[in-house]
Amino acid sequence: MSEPNNEPVVSQTGDGPAPPWAMLAELTHGCPLHCPYCSNPVGLIPRSRELETADWVRVFEEAAALGVIHAHLSGGEPLLRPDLREITEAAARNGVYTQLVTSGVGLDADRLAELVGAGLHSVQLSVQDSTAAASDLIAGTRSFAAKERAAALVREAGLPLGLNVVLHRRNLDSIEGIVELAATWGAERVELANTQFYGWALRNRRALLPTREQLARAKESVERLRERVEGVELIWVVPDYFDGVPKPCMGGWGAISLTVGPDGSVLPCPAAYDLPLEFPNVRDHSLEWIWRRSTAFEAYRGTEWMSGPCSGCPRREVDFGGCRCQAFALTGDASRTDPACGLSPDHHLITELVESAGDGELVYRRPERRGGLQLRR
Ligand code: SF4
Ligand code: FES
Repeated sequence: MSEPNNEPVVSQTGDGPAPPWAMLAELTHGCPLHCPYCSNPVGLIPRSRELETADWVRVFEEAAALGVIHAHLSGGEPLLRPDLREITEAAARNGVYTQLVTSGVGLDADRLAELVGAGLHSVQLSVQDSTAAASDLIAGTRSFAAKERAAALVREAGLPLGLNVVLHRRNLDSIEGIVELAATWGAERVELANTQFYGWALRNRRALLPTREQLARAKESVERLRERVEGVELIWVVPDYFDGVPKPCMGGWGAISLTVGPDGSVLPCPAAYDLPLEFPNVRDHSLEWIWRRSTAFEAYRGTEWMSGPCSGCPRREVDFGGCRCQAFALTGDASRTDPACGLSPDHHLITELVESAGDGELVYRRPERRGGLQLRR
């Protein structure tokens, strides 16, 4: 730790950044799936270094005091934590809205009843494609049947259900089927999120990047489906590799949300593990100190850190210079303009990648085994 371990008393109404309202609680990096698009870091945090129950209880007390009102209980697979009930209860007790983000593997009626009793508010279920065979192929393991059962249990329990589908070259042409599946399963919301290339997914970029034609077709399908399918809200998370327009990543660095990793590291974004910053830990500091005072959260907050072309750009308060993790992954310098921006001097890195994309072997998320199985559709 390079941060000084002094805990100043800071008034929430004093000067400084506005409080965060959202928190991603990555309870574990353990996961039963092997998705090639996984954005978790290549080097996962081992289970032996995970926070204890009491740590998470304190984290939620501090988060609520800081202003957090919404938390994703995520991972990896959060159901792998035997103390998920206690963690959920701590969040709910402190007035934080909780959404379980799960593969559905390991969710049975008893477990769900326990979580509902603890105050769980909603569930977001990941699905990899519209059919069992295609979904299992991307997940790298048989999991579709468990997802279907989990969806039914969530609806029976009366909780709001959302589906989360990461989109890429292998499933973009299945949008219609995916949305039909969501309607059949009783989902109220489907997040169609084009793959973000961080962590493990970077290895599979060439095989996962879609064609422009696929993207255009998928976008048209979403627009058509919005008119046709009632009762299912469709969220289309745009890819940033194709239009020269960067995304306002995380709503700005250290602006609205924070991520607490399995070992208690606190990051402004869940993909930031690989950035050359010293991330503070809840074992050493309060969340309030981390949010307001740590150098990691200050590093790219606001616009002061920007250089050209962002520093003089009228969009700098709109997209915050794009994504720091992408700038680092592609240029080795997190303070550069995101190469996804058409004004970036590094934009050619993105256009070259898009042009070189193509079918290829996918490397499954399986740290102990490189190479993976071959997927062809
Ligand atoms: Fe956004 Fe910077 Fe590009 Fe302007 S130059 S559009 S602020 S990324
Ligand atoms: Fe980390 Fe964009 S993913 S700042």
